[in-house]
Amino acid sequence: SATDIRLAETFRSDFPIGAAVSAHTIHSQRELLLQQYNSLTAENEMKFICIHPEEHRYTFERADAIADFARQHQLGLRGHTFVWHNQTPDWIFQNEQGGKADRATLLARLQQHMETVMGRYRDVIRCWDVVNEAISDEDGTYLRPTPWLEGIGEDYIARAFEMAHAIDPQALLFYNDYNESHPGKCDRICRLMRELLDVGVPVHGVGLQAHWNIHDPSLDQIRAAIEKYAALGLQLQITEMDVSMFAFDDRRTDLKAPTAEMVRLQEERYRDYFKLFHEYREVLTSVTFWGAADDYTWLDGFPVRGRKNWPLLFDEQQQPKAVCYDIVRAR
Ligand code: XIL
Repeated sequence: SATDIRLAETFRSDFPIGAAVSAHTIHSQRELLLQQYNSLTAENEMKFICIHPEEHRYTFERADAIADFARQHQLGLRGHTFVWHNQTPDWIFQNEQGGKADRATLLARLQQHMETVMGRYRDVIRCWDVVNEAISDEDGTYLRPTPWLEGIGEDYIARAFEMAHAIDPQALLFYNDYNESHPGKCDRICRLMRELLDVGVPVHGVGLQAHWNIHDPSLDQIRAAIEKYAALGLQLQITEMDVSMFAFDDRRTDLKAPTAEMVRLQEERYRDYFKLFHEYREVLTSVTFWGAADDYTWLDGFPVRGRKNWPLLFDEQQQPKAVCYDIVRAR
């Protein structure tokens, strides 16, 4: 096994380098996680639909298993996530007559949910993705249409951060999004952050999901985005990093292994990205991968069904890829 390097020592010794995990992978990837990472995120287990599927029923078992693993091994744990348009149960948005729940009901339900979940993990989760993916992908638009927006109104983001801060004043509160390095979306995310900060809303950081691929976004786009986010005076965290072997329009499903060209490009991109992260170490406060090794990644079958992907720094045998050594040694 990979005992000759420690990914978690790439930056300062206390710099969190995380991996998304499930209640299953904390077992199947246990040794790798403990050797190479010092932080975790629950890939699904703490999402609204997983932990609170019905109004009067919480399902903590799998989330607790991850939290206990983090506690037991003194790993960091990022909280993910409260207000999102996906993996959120319908009951929240419905009233007893089967119509739409009103603003006061939605806010009360969100408050109750955050109190329960933040309270339960307060000792181990010091940082939460309070709002996830609220900005639209289309230039010329702003907020994504969601039942949260529809039911509460435009201030739903501000209210969520205020509630979270009142519940746990010590927690670091993040706004998290993808396509965060595309110029137009980056500007819209910055606009949202500025609007929140201008009226004193307690938001402390921007999470850059960093679901990138070997062609896109360019290093220059990422650098420009980091510059703009850093200028807000907020801290930045890379929250869900992976580097897909496939461009957005590549629909091939027949590859059993990445081509030599794919491997070369991925190495180049990972080296460039980490060089950039080092440059911004004053504002960048952690890097989390959306998975620990290529034996399991959400990109297997997404967005193209039946397709294997190899987006992480450890391979299908949970061994470090060549570029992983480069990254750790370049520190
Ligand atoms: C993904 C998980 O990895 C999948 O297992 C699940 O089926 C869907 O959600 N942005 C996010 C994450 O903020 O929560 C998503 O995680 C990936 C995109």
